[in-house]
Amino acid sequence: MEFPKVRMRRLRKNRIRPLMQETKLSKEDLIMPIFVDENISSRQEIPSMPGYFRIPLHSISDEIGKAMELGIRAFIFFGIPASKDEIGSSAYDDDGVIQKALRDVRQDFDDAVLITDVCLCEYTTHGHCGIVHNEEILNDPTLPVLGKVAVSHARAGADIVAPSGMMDGMIKAIRGALDENGFENTAIMSYSAKYASSFYGPFREAAESGYAFGDRKSYQMDFHNSDEALREVELDLREGADMVMVKPALSYLDIIRRVKEAFKVPVAAYNVSGEYSMVKAAGRMGWLDETSIAYEILTSIKRAGADLIITYHAKEIAEVL
Ligand code: PBG
Repeated sequence: MEFPKVRMRRLRKNRIRPLMQETKLSKEDLIMPIFVDENISSRQEIPSMPGYFRIPLHSISDEIGKAMELGIRAFIFFGIPASKDEIGSSAYDDDGVIQKALRDVRQDFDDAVLITDVCLCEYTTHGHCGIVHNEEILNDPTLPVLGKVAVSHARAGADIVAPSGMMDGMIKAIRGALDENGFENTAIMSYSAKYASSFYGPFREAAESGYAFGDRKSYQMDFHNSDEALREVELDLREGADMVMVKPALSYLDIIRRVKEAFKVPVAAYNVSGEYSMVKAAGRMGWLDETSIAYEILTSIKRAGADLIITYHAKEIAEVL
């Protein structure tokens, strides 16, 4: 009988096991999404995202403070404005919901990293991510508006702006607008490879950003493709993106890996609303252990190559890290 000389199991023993971990999730990897709602006066749980809340403006600093106590330092803000119109003008109002929230948080927490979603869908009556004419989402007329939104966010204290509308040329337009207004140090995290995905369903309820007609397929990517993601990333980097994003995350680990290997730039992954809700639903049914599943999912996203992960699990995971 010949016994194996190489035994993989030697290093798997409990005491040694943690020393062998190639990938370690840390609190610094996490970005927590914040839904600020101008229309409510107390926290409201989002029905399709159990355990996740929309926050009224007056308690936004409180909310950030609690997360920071758990060790989370980065936040991405989404606004639900009091008023919407055809062109999404409340998105670049200096007294808009995001701008007010940023000023509050910045005043209370000097070391919080404030990221903003730069898009029009939550601010337009039709719910699309660009300027619309005859039910068509127009690319070029949307660009200067995105520039204005980014500048107003920077002025209110954003460290990083994150355009999510998938308009061609949006990074160049935003970089130009920021630089012209003296915000050359505001960074851009581009939602470069954003797929048209059914995983965004719960978010659209959370942010009231469902659309009045059509779908988002004229601007978001087709999930049958992955070379196309590399082209998107390349263009965004050339236009001045400081970091890029792949979204969703869990069904797109291959894209994260390809992007990381091809470009060696900071890559964020968005563990989106539907991915969160699936875990929560199964957890509530008693079919899965929510926290250990979330931990495994986030670790796999990091192992695939993500440097940063936007996740609704941020708080529960920070608690166990
Ligand atoms: C806005 C935006 C969306 C998400 C982030 N920014 C929705 C969409 O494109 O329809 C989705 C986030 C999530 O599902 O958690 N463009």
